[in-house]
Amino acid sequence: MQIYMAPLEGITGFVFRNAFHKYYGGVDKYFTPFITPHTKKNMDARERRDILPENNRGITLVPQVLTCQVEEMISISRELKELGYTQINLNLGCPSGTVAAKGKGSGFLDDPIKLDRFFEVYFENSDMPLSIKTRVGVEETDEFEQLLAVYKKYPFCEVIIHPRLGKEFYRGTVHRDLFSRAVKVLPQPVCYNGDIFTTVDFQTVSGENPECERYMLGRGLLWNPQLAEGIVSGRMTEFDLVRFEQFHDEIVSGYREYISGDRNVLFRMKELWGYWKDLFPADKKHFKKIRKASTLMEYGQEVRMLFEETKA
Ligand SMILES: Cc1cc2nc3c(=O)[nH]c(=O)nc-3n(C[C@H](O)[C@H](O)[C@H](O)COP(=O)(O)O)c2cc1C
Repeated sequence: MQIYMAPLEGITGFVFRNAFHKYYGGVDKYFTPFITPHTKKNMDARERRDILPENNRGITLVPQVLTCQVEEMISISRELKELGYTQINLNLGCPSGTVAAKGKGSGFLDDPIKLDRFFEVYFENSDMPLSIKTRVGVEETDEFEQLLAVYKKYPFCEVIIHPRLGKEFYRGTVHRDLFSRAVKVLPQPVCYNGDIFTTVDFQTVSGENPECERYMLGRGLLWNPQLAEGIVSGRMTEFDLVRFEQFHDEIVSGYREYISGDRNVLFRMKELWGYWKDLFPADKKHFKKIRKASTLMEYGQEVRMLFEETKA
């Protein structure tokens, strides 16, 4: 079995990925948050820095691309190949209104004929192995059959499925029945993604799909960084605060090195605490102060106090 870390825009950049890989186990492969090709160049400076091999040493990384223009996909596949990558991923899931309105991400699923043509041209012109990360439709679950008919035809190295519709964003129950259907119908390796937050969630999906060997975890790894280890070993271990503290500190120092301005670092850290606060259910006061901190110094003091009090 293989476990992947899902791409989370604004969160799972190289600083986070490297820190995670240093302190936690269980993840076999990482995906970059989406890269959006630009008219004149494939990547901007920030996107390039995120995928540079020297910033991703020792981890297996798949760059993800968000586009509906096959020429852009072919062009970026060549550049990524030159950088040493052996696989790229196409984002067919982003539900954001502005992205979907441009026919990208989940918006691309609205036009299976264009999608079909995109893959036909891609595989004629690029030898870079391609995987897709897709939802099951935009508005209605019955759109999925037509998408499966397209996906069946092409030699994707894997098909990652988040079984929600575009209009469902990240809410409501996942359509696990549609995932099971895809496992039966698709000839390519299929990977499950969506709402695996506990080992029990994992056991439910894997129990329903014994053929499925690949699982992608996103928010579950933020809420509990030990989740992948628990899934692999079959038992969850107690929250390890010392390890978490080191992980946290590594992210702060990485952000301070690469993100300009302490305010931006603070903003990024606060976003992470939106997930991490549940690791400290007994805390009544520090999390509130972390959220309100206006300087990195104030933030650091509150976090330290939270860690010390939790240890005591
Ligand atoms: C903040 C945030 C950012 C995301 N960014 C991306 C992205 O860049 N590319 C992508 O394919 N999916 C993205 N997703 C979707 C996740 O990769 C994943 O499919 C989704 O969270 C469901 O998996 P989970 O329930 O394990 O979190 C994002 C989701 C969230 C919540």
